Amino acid sequence: MTIHEMQERILQLKKEKDFCILAHSYVRREILEIADIVGDSFKLSRDVCSASQNNILFCGVHFMAETAKMLNMEKHVYLSHPLAGCPMAEQMDPEMLKFMREKEPDRAVVAYINTTAALKAYCDVCVTSSSAVEIVKKMDSDKILFIPDCNLGAYVKAQVPEKDIKLIQGGCPIHASVTAEEVKAAKESHPDALLLVHPECVPAVVEQADYVGSTSGIIAFAKKSDKKQFIIGTEMEIAETLQYECPDKEFFILSKKLICPNMKLTTLVDVYNTLVDPIKNGFEIEMTKEEAEKSRKCIDEMLRLG
Ligand code: 13P
Ligand code: SF4
Repeated sequence: MTIHEMQERILQLKKEKDFCILAHSYVRREILEIADIVGDSFKLSRDVCSASQNNILFCGVHFMAETAKMLNMEKHVYLSHPLAGCPMAEQMDPEMLKFMREKEPDRAVVAYINTTAALKAYCDVCVTSSSAVEIVKKMDSDKILFIPDCNLGAYVKAQVPEKDIKLIQGGCPIHASVTAEEVKAAKESHPDALLLVHPECVPAVVEQADYVGSTSGIIAFAKKSDKKQFIIGTEMEIAETLQYECPDKEFFILSKKLICPNMKLTTLVDVYNTLVDPIKNGFEIEMTKEEAEKSRKCIDEMLRLG
């Protein structure tokens, strides 16, 4: 079967088997093309609730499929590849957080959505990269513990200086690997380009950007801008997507390290195999009602404030 034939078959199978396919914008292009909903973490967790299908196939990483499950307990939710996890989501465990809460009980805990469901159960509100600043501003509490990404946390802290925000050491190994030297080199190679970066990058990179935002924010900014050249400081799929969608503009990746191996694990064949036989080939997310109720409170709070 060619890629195109497999895509056609997937489109038929998802109708026959009542599947909605969600894909994060970092997954491979051939998967983005057959998905029903594509977007950043915020859009995906908001729009998954409006899917009418009884089955959801999440092409992305584990915490995203878990979030989809806790918001849709009556549905079957599958993750596209059993090994696709986000290393940042696993950096902190509930015992560590319980200990920190006991030490400073007056601090509200804000969790980046890149956390496990077990950890979310001990947080007050979740944020995504596109909603973090707005939500932290709107919260009643002025004392905050921001987990686990200290780079996104530092960005929020700079935008909301009136609040006391405590950070911990954690973050995305992919975005955090980009250096200020790489920014200098990219700007020297493309002096007319605007630099657009994800807030998971380190402050020395973020401070030099012309725009800082989520994956959807970066895409929207580049499409709207009158400028013709852009250096993209997030996973390289975004630069590729933009290049397809804006052929009159030029997009350069900030660093060749900006490739997320977990987001790239899922292949079109994995999607096809899950749809052919979800019971035998699929990786279904299991969660008890009690677990879901505890963990989803901070997602509900995010959707209420965001
Ligand atoms: P977004 O919130 O921009 O989708 O980012 C998710 C993510 O995993 C970034 O590395
Ligand atoms: Fe996790 Fe970073 Fe990959 Fe996003 S890019 S899924 S934060 S490892």
